[in-house]
Amino acid sequence: MMSVRSTSWRNELKSHIRGKSLVFLLADSNLPDSYSKDIMKVCKIKNKTHLHKIKGGEQIKTHQHLIKIYNELDAVGADRKSVVICLGGGTISDLGGYAASTYKRGIDLIILPTTVTGMVDAAIGGKNGINLESNLGILKNQIGTFHQPKLIGIDFNWLNSLPKDEVKSGWGEMLKHALLKGGSHLEQFKNTEPNLASLTPLIIDSGNIKEGIVRRDVKENGERAILNLGHTIGHAIESLALDSSNGSEIKHGIAVAWGIVFTLEVSVRKMGFNNTLAKELIKWIIDIIGYPEKMWGSEEIWLKMCKDKKNTNGNVKDVLLRNPGDADWCFTWEREEFTILWEQFRERYELTSC
Ligand SMILES: NC(=O)c1ccc[n+]([C@@H]2O[C@H](COP(=O)([O-])OP(=O)(O)OC[C@H]3O[C@@H](n4cnc5c(N)ncnc54)[C@H](O)[C@@H]3O)[C@@H](O)[C@H]2O)c1
Ligand SMILES: [Zn+2]
Repeated sequence: MMSVRSTSWRNELKSHIRGKSLVFLLADSNLPDSYSKDIMKVCKIKNKTHLHKIKGGEQIKTHQHLIKIYNELDAVGADRKSVVICLGGGTISDLGGYAASTYKRGIDLIILPTTVTGMVDAAIGGKNGINLESNLGILKNQIGTFHQPKLIGIDFNWLNSLPKDEVKSGWGEMLKHALLKGGSHLEQFKNTEPNLASLTPLIIDSGNIKEGIVRRDVKENGERAILNLGHTIGHAIESLALDSSNGSEIKHGIAVAWGIVFTLEVSVRKMGFNNTLAKELIKWIIDIIGYPEKMWGSEEIWLKMCKDKKNTNGNVKDVLLRNPGDADWCFTWEREEFTILWEQFRERYELTSC
């Protein structure tokens, strides 16, 4: 069953926590205190509560952080009738969602997303998870489950404290939805400035695009895989940035947007995507995201792509576009062809080696 998604979270929250033995609020400590206080006020009226703060960011999607949450749940007496509320961006809901789905074989989950990425994407669809620290470095989202939140409560006021570069990262996920939808939504999105005030009115529509796709294929047996548009390369770039010893970070949505730029180029060659349109889209995207200082070579990207969780039987899978609104999720990469196309791509955009 899909979640209730609502912009009037106070009333919805009250009804969803009724009768719960404990409300465990997992909140991002980077948020202003007033957000969690406000929520605790609603929860405390009739429920036993516990507030657990943790600093959001990709670095928390680990087993160590997961175990800390299990221990805290245990220490405060959580049981199978308790509920976990995640207040934060995608890293808080991925970690907290996974904890809720596995603790005592699964307890209820509510997500209150506070980033653009969370509101249009990460909170929707029931996927959660943590990264795996392997001998190949960090592998994104390799461990996780499907566990639908009962409620996704949205309050646009929470976005007022979000840093500008995080808004832009959310723009990257909205771009993915716009290309998957095409038509008038894409046109409207193209004419929208990538700032918070302009993007906010499109957030619900963008989330609806994801929800519609998930509804048709909840467990990703087929069509849902199109939501990985730009993510095969995007996750590889993001993981390599996390591995790099200088601690440099590329935001998830920006890595995905670069994945989409490459995908558009490949789609022209392999799927007959209109070349003029691809060029126009690529220029628009790069004008917004800017150039990265460095970009990894085909060998490093390929090794990460080989570990992508969409792969089956050792084949490296990817999502390409025939047209905006018409995606193919069954493309399989050959290493040699990828190597040539990636190196040409780096040369064209003068992306120097890391
Ligand atoms: N499960 C899914 O379906 C899904 C979908 C998309 C993305 N994701 C995951 O989500 C993560 C990216 O999500 P994200 O961009 O929300 O990351 P995030 O949770 O790291 O948030 C980004 C940064 O903004 C801060 N922050 C969050 N809300 C804030 C606010 N309102 N005010 C001030 N600061 C705030 C956080 O502390 C963090 O530093 C990635 O790990 C990605 O893999 C999951
Ligand atoms: Zn994503």
